[in-house]
Amino acid sequence: MTAQASAINTPTDSTQTRRHKLTLLFHNQPDKSVVLEVDEGTSILHACMENAIHLQHNCGGVCACSTCHVIVKKGMENLPEMTDEEEEQLDEAVGLTLSSRLGCQSKLYGDVTVLIPDQSIYLGH
Ligand code: FES
Repeated sequence: MTAQASAINTPTDSTQTRRHKLTLLFHNQPDKSVVLEVDEGTSILHACMENAIHLQHNCGGVCACSTCHVIVKKGMENLPEMTDEEEEQLDEAVGLTLSSRLGCQSKLYGDVTVLIPDQSIYLGH
């Protein structure tokens, strides 16, 4: 390793974007899990879209449909607090749980594991 490469990889380098693990579990495929490494601040929906993972998003990710509903299994503390808008929209989600969040509103600030509910119940994209 060169001195220059070592300097670039120094953990104290403040220009480096922190990355976190997003683990996805699937209601319709209980044996499947996918682990994505994403930049801090990336939403669950955006991470799924970037990696060709189907997560419904009928409103396009603007907190107006609830079809991007996910169930957080681990790491709720690594997501921002829910806004009033998200809470209101989440009430419309199918199969709502106490650990439900909207994928488009949930940005990662640490490792998170979520279950993607049955996506076959939705029409649209
Ligand atoms: S995509 Fe519509 S609320 Fe998240």
